[in-house]
Amino acid sequence: MPSLPLLACPVCGDSLEPDSGFRSLTCPSGHRYDAARQGYFNLLTGGGTKFQADTAAMVQARTHFLAAGHYLPMATELARLVAAAAPGAGTVLDAGAGTGYYLGEVLRPLSGATAVALDISKFALRRAARALPGTYALVWDVWRRLPLRDASVDVVLNVFAPRNPPEFRRVLAPGGILAVVTPRPEHLQEIRAEAAMLGIAAEKEERVSASLAPGFTPLHTGRCTYPMQLGRADVRNVVLMGPSARHLDEAGLERTLAALPDAVTVTASFTLQIFRAD
Ligand SMILES: C[S@@+](CC[C@H](N)C(=O)[O-])C[C@H]1O[C@@H](n2cnc3c(N)ncnc32)[C@H](O)[C@@H]1O
Ligand SMILES: [Zn+2]
Repeated sequence: MPSLPLLACPVCGDSLEPDSGFRSLTCPSGHRYDAARQGYFNLLTGGGTKFQADTAAMVQARTHFLAAGHYLPMATELARLVAAAAPGAGTVLDAGAGTGYYLGEVLRPLSGATAVALDISKFALRRAARALPGTYALVWDVWRRLPLRDASVDVVLNVFAPRNPPEFRRVLAPGGILAVVTPRPEHLQEIRAEAAMLGIAAEKEERVSASLAPGFTPLHTGRCTYPMQLGRADVRNVVLMGPSARHLDEAGLERTLAALPDAVTVTASFTLQIFRAD
């Protein structure tokens, strides 16, 4: 694990360095954060947050769904776009990393890059820490000042997760790359009604660009749309991994699943936007 001036102490802002065993992070003033047994660091000590973290059940459903490869075409395209825009990237931050699935795909072609997986859900980061050894997995709220030094990262990833444009700009080095993935209106359209899913707030590309206008220049907008063949277990997972899971009538979902054919064709549709920090 390289010891770069990458992380910033959430208390005093000075640099946060790992010990040789990567079991704790400490700043020169002595603020210290110990790794959880599962390898992530919880920097959000004290003070609650008003945002709901993904639960263990949501994370488990997402892990199974992603492991089945249904979003791999998008992840592969994301990795290709990032590698093309930032071929020599040495540091990558995934803001709202979840289980680290996309971060893992993006790191593959960027050999030796240092990575930070940031998420408010410790359940998600347990998976990320296990899947991506050597990555800093940090429990943190993306709406707060990020625990990273100014101009310390080359790439920020933001996949279906909240965005904090001024903070993304601050931590990116000038010329750094921000990759944003959002679902399109037709994403999962065939099962949205049956699964009683909350409508995905499909963000218009223009809205994403406008929110990033101060400080970022759009480089590329790509669309990735393809059919998925989903069995009942896949449909159950895709429902349970999203925010709809919080309000779900589980018996109703099981009745819906029982009435489905063995395999359904469901649209996956994403917008991938690449920006350069000015
Ligand atoms: C839909 S998931 C996407 C996760 C991952 N990028 C993926 O696609 O698998 C949204 C993620 O954002 C995280 N999240 C929600 N609010 C957050 C916040 N305020 N700060 C940091 N992470 C947050 C959730 O815990 C969850 O892991
Ligand atoms: Zn400190």
